[in-house]
Amino acid sequence: MDNSDETPCLFPPPDRLRNESHVKSMDDYKEMYKRSVEDPEGFWGDIAKQFYWASPPTGKFVDYNFDCRKGRISIKWMEGAKTNICYNAIDRHIKNGQGDKIAFFWEGNDPADHDSGNITYSQLKDKICKFSNILKQSGLKKGDRVAIYMPMILELTVAMLACARLGIIHSIVFAGFSAESLADRILDGQCSAIVTADGVWRGSKLLNLKSIVDVALEICSKRDHKLSHCFIVKHLLPKGHSVQQNGDCVDYPEEKPAQRPTRSLKINWTDGRDVWWHDVMGTASTDCEPEWMDAEDPLFMLYTSGSTGKPKGVLHTVGGYMLYSATTFKYAFDYQPDDIYWCTADVGWITGHTYVAYGPLNNCATSIIFEGTPFFPDAGRFWAIIEKYKVTKFYTAPTAIRALMRYGDEYVTKYDRSSLKVLATVGEPINPEAWLWYHNVVGNKQCAVVDTFWQTETGGHTITPLPGATPTKPGSATFPFFGIVPVIMSDEGVEITDPNVEGYLVFKQPWPGLMRTVYGDHERYETTYFKKFPGYYCTGDGAKRDEDGYIWVTGRIDDMVNVSGHLLSTAEIESALVEHPTVAEAAVVSHPHKIKGECTYCFVTLKEGKEFSDALVKELMDRVRKKIGPFAQPDFVQNAPGLPKTRSGKIMRRVLRKIAVGDKNVGDITTMADETVIDKLFQLRPPEA
Ligand code: PRX
Repeated sequence: MDNSDETPCLFPPPDRLRNESHVKSMDDYKEMYKRSVEDPEGFWGDIAKQFYWASPPTGKFVDYNFDCRKGRISIKWMEGAKTNICYNAIDRHIKNGQGDKIAFFWEGNDPADHDSGNITYSQLKDKICKFSNILKQSGLKKGDRVAIYMPMILELTVAMLACARLGIIHSIVFAGFSAESLADRILDGQCSAIVTADGVWRGSKLLNLKSIVDVALEICSKRDHKLSHCFIVKHLLPKGHSVQQNGDCVDYPEEKPAQRPTRSLKINWTDGRDVWWHDVMGTASTDCEPEWMDAEDPLFMLYTSGSTGKPKGVLHTVGGYMLYSATTFKYAFDYQPDDIYWCTADVGWITGHTYVAYGPLNNCATSIIFEGTPFFPDAGRFWAIIEKYKVTKFYTAPTAIRALMRYGDEYVTKYDRSSLKVLATVGEPINPEAWLWYHNVVGNKQCAVVDTFWQTETGGHTITPLPGATPTKPGSATFPFFGIVPVIMSDEGVEITDPNVEGYLVFKQPWPGLMRTVYGDHERYETTYFKKFPGYYCTGDGAKRDEDGYIWVTGRIDDMVNVSGHLLSTAEIESALVEHPTVAEAAVVSHPHKIKGECTYCFVTLKEGKEFSDALVKELMDRVRKKIGPFAQPDFVQNAPGLPKTRSGKIMRRVLRKIAVGDKNVGDITTMADETVIDKLFQLRPPEA
């Protein structure tokens, strides 16, 4: 976020937070930070003592090679130590007398749905153990992969923690991804089983998740991969209802709240593979000994977009991720035992993994799991939930803040938000206007605004203010978290120390939560993150430091587009477009968007004799939705009889970005093969762009 032409103002931490917070001043932060980077073993070793370990590390506390010139990239923390993250997240607190504390309040899509959604740590443990036993009885074991494709319901956390308890690697796929995307991920991870639900209401839309899973599993079986089990949570269907399977229609609950249209849900059934969750949970035992895992054993993989188009299975390991998720949660939100914490992210993304599940649970926190959307039944939903549960710490995305701002302040101010202390954001740069609205209107100028910069790959926050210590500047993620050494690097690989000079944001040494590999493709891991600047982890984002040392992340420098906080690969969208029989070539670039931050703008070159039309635009948009998921739908599709290319045939994306926004100042085009295409492309811009 570049606001260099404005005078940035400084917001000191609110006094009421400073007094109770873990880190009360910048001096305290600097002292802790210094220790964390100079003596990582001492710093993280002390934190590790708060967790349960069945045995200590057998070798070095931390051992790594960050420099691909010196050999294979490897990162190991506490190798040889034995632990279990599920035990630490659940059993440890029960042993400490916290079994009756509420782990989650569940808030359904419909405000009328909330009842009986609360679960204590003891109740959660019983369910996790039951499902662990079911997984075990189904023949699943340590090291196997299980896909999870579920709505935001408590069973999602039960399923992921049951996997973690047994050392099964979970691969959660956001339940907004298409059947094809789900199939790609199942195949890449060679998952043996999947956990899903019958369906979910998202706002006023009904999604039949089971049918999406059926299509995905069909694709897998055509590619010779059969899953042994598909566990289905009966979330929408009345629990006692006898389901007519094999394609018959199953009716919806009769007592459905008024907002819901009458619909029916069709559940196809594959005998021998499909299992109703409730059919097996009832009789399963609530005792299940955890599998004692090596700190460096894999915990989960989570797919993130790759600039070449194929998503990467980011792999995190047990011990380091456990320490890092818990520690970032504690400090960045300044977690206190009486907090009611709410992160609005879906567990299908990394923010949900780390800050809905593992981070809060490892701190014995009480949080909210919200199934719905910020706009249903109206744009006051977030603030209604904050009032209802007296939320103290709130974490959401700038895109949601921007969207809600447009509805006016009354939606916010009619609810009591006096419980709030920390307002955090994640996923994309937050523009100062949205930051200020969040601070002034939502927080009533009483809260710390915490802009957290991190990635799926980093496991947890890497650059973030600390609520009681850091004076904030709207639009800056401020300073590094403990253990993180950020460097701004020039394209030539020289560290930039001058203020306000933009470069690549890279990190100089590993921290416990950094990903260890790309599942099944270590070479891609090395190439993507470590080849460009040997000795550094490359984020792929641009950043600069101002004269006060504040870090300003300016956005992706590679061919990725951040749409509403979701990282999309332009190459993946291009490949969906060229699959259409009329399209010869496609080039996708980022375009600014008022609410989403960025959106995608697609240039398509049609095959000889094919006509560009509104109907084709719709078909192409639908194609991307179907191929990747609804959240990836492009905003603009433009006819491009020719694309600007260099003489060597490379598409000049920087020129396309200018055309997309209607900026005639396209820069240096001396290397372009045919300059006449530019005028043509300007003429063909869609009127709404
Ligand atoms: O471009 C950065 C942006 O989101 C990317 C990471 O996306 P993903 O792996 O999907 O994880 C999102 C949630 C952690 C980054 O490379 N990004 C994330 N947070 C910020 C951000 N950009 C600017 N400021 C942020 N606070």
